[in-house]
Amino acid sequence: MIVDADLRVPGDKSITHRALLLSAFARGTSRIEGALTSLDARSSARVLRQLGAAVSPLAAGRAITVAGRGRFRRPAGRLDCGNSGTTTRLLLGLLAAHPFAATLTGDRSLRRRPMRRVTIPLELMGARFTFAGNDGLPLTVRGGKLTSLRYALPASSAQLKSAVLLAGLAGGVPVEVREPAGRSRDHTERMLRAFGYVVEDDGEWIRFLPTGALEAARYAIPGDPSSAAFLVGAALLAEAGELRLREVCLNPTRTGFLRVLARMGADIGVEGVRESAGEPVGDLVIRPSALTATEVVPGEIPGLIDEIPLLSVLASRAEGTTIFREVGELRVKESDRLALLAANLRAVGARAEARGNTLSVEGSVASPAGRVVTESDHRLAMAFEVLGTLPGAKVRVDHPECAAVSFPGFHASLRALRARRERRS
Ligand code: S3P
Repeated sequence: MIVDADLRVPGDKSITHRALLLSAFARGTSRIEGALTSLDARSSARVLRQLGAAVSPLAAGRAITVAGRGRFRRPAGRLDCGNSGTTTRLLLGLLAAHPFAATLTGDRSLRRRPMRRVTIPLELMGARFTFAGNDGLPLTVRGGKLTSLRYALPASSAQLKSAVLLAGLAGGVPVEVREPAGRSRDHTERMLRAFGYVVEDDGEWIRFLPTGALEAARYAIPGDPSSAAFLVGAALLAEAGELRLREVCLNPTRTGFLRVLARMGADIGVEGVRESAGEPVGDLVIRPSALTATEVVPGEIPGLIDEIPLLSVLASRAEGTTIFREVGELRVKESDRLALLAANLRAVGARAEARGNTLSVEGSVASPAGRVVTESDHRLAMAFEVLGTLPGAKVRVDHPECAAVSFPGFHASLRALRARRERRS
C-alpha cells in the first residue's frame, strides 16, 4: 500500500467516559465536545440516563450535553454496561457513596471480567456488594456513608485506581492508592485537579483530598491514541508515503506504544504539541519503516496495555523476536487477549507463544493468511485487520463489526489511508 492521508481519529474513549460520568454526577448542564460516540460511550450514556442525568443523543460531530442533578437517582432497572469495563468500574466508585441498591450487568465478555478487585477496596470504605456468581457481573452495590482509605492496588489499572478516587470524590473523603508496577493512565487525576481537588503523586502514593467542588463544565476531548495506534501500524507496514493524524492525545501515560515503536525503528514525528483541556495534544506524522524486535519490560506495560494487540502484529513483521514481559492483565480484557493473540498470530502463519505472563512474537516476511477468532474483542479485530493490509495478505477476521465498540468508522479510515491513485485501481 502507498499511504497518503491526513486524518483525525475519534475522541478518546477513556476521557469521554470520565467526562460523561463527572457531568452526570455534577449539578447543572455540561457540554462535551469531540466526544467518542462508539458503543462503549453509548453504554455510559445509557446507564447515566437511568441514574437520572439527561444526556443528549450521541451523534458523531455533535457536542453532547449532560444535565446532572448533583447526585444519582435510584435506577428503575438493571444497569447494562454492555461491553464497557470502564463504565462498570468507575460507576461502582460513584455508586459506593449513594444510599440505594443498584444492579450492574453487561454482555458475555464483560460478565466474565473480575470485579472483586474493585469491590474489595470499596467495601473497606463502607459500601456493600452482592455477587450473583463468584466474581464478575451481575452484581449489586449498596452504597452509603464512606470512610477514608489507604490501599495498595493489586494491579496497575486505571479503572481500579479511578473507582477508588471517584469513591473519595462522591463520599467526600480522602483516599490514597499505590500501583504495583508503572503508572496507569491519569485522566481521572487530571480532571479532579481541574475542579480544585488535591491529587498528589509522590511517585509511590496517589493522594486525593476532597478539597474541590465538582461543577458543570465544558470538556474538549482529544483524539484517542489507542485508536490512532491502529492507523499508525497500517502506515508503518505500507511501502511508501506518509500519514498525518491530527489532534491525538499525547498524555505520557498513553503513549508508551510510541516509545516502543521508536525503539523498533519506526519513523514517527510528533508535531505541534500543545495543552488542551488539561491534556497534551499534537499531530503524529508516520512514514513506512522497517522494524526490528524489542523487549517490552513490566514497567512499560500499563502505558501501552491497550496497544499490545497492535504491537504484537507489528512484531510479527519485525526482524527478530519481540518479548512482552508481565502481560498477565491481558487475560482479563474484553477477551483472554494473551491466549487469543498468540493463537491468532499462529493461525495467520506467524510464530508466537504465550507462556506464563510472557508473550513472544517472531518476525517473518511471509504473507499472513488465515482465519482470526476475536471473540468480538474490538482491539483484536482491528489489529488483525491492520495485518491484512499487507500485500498478498489473506486475513479473515470473524467479527470485523466489533471495531465499533471503540472506533466507529475504523474500516473507512483504514481504506482512507490509501493514496488516491491506489484506491482507483
Ligand atoms: C481504561 C483502563 C484500562 C484500559 C481500558 C480503559 C480506563 O483498563 O485497558 O481500555 O479508561 O481507565 P485497566 O484499568 O483494566 O487496565
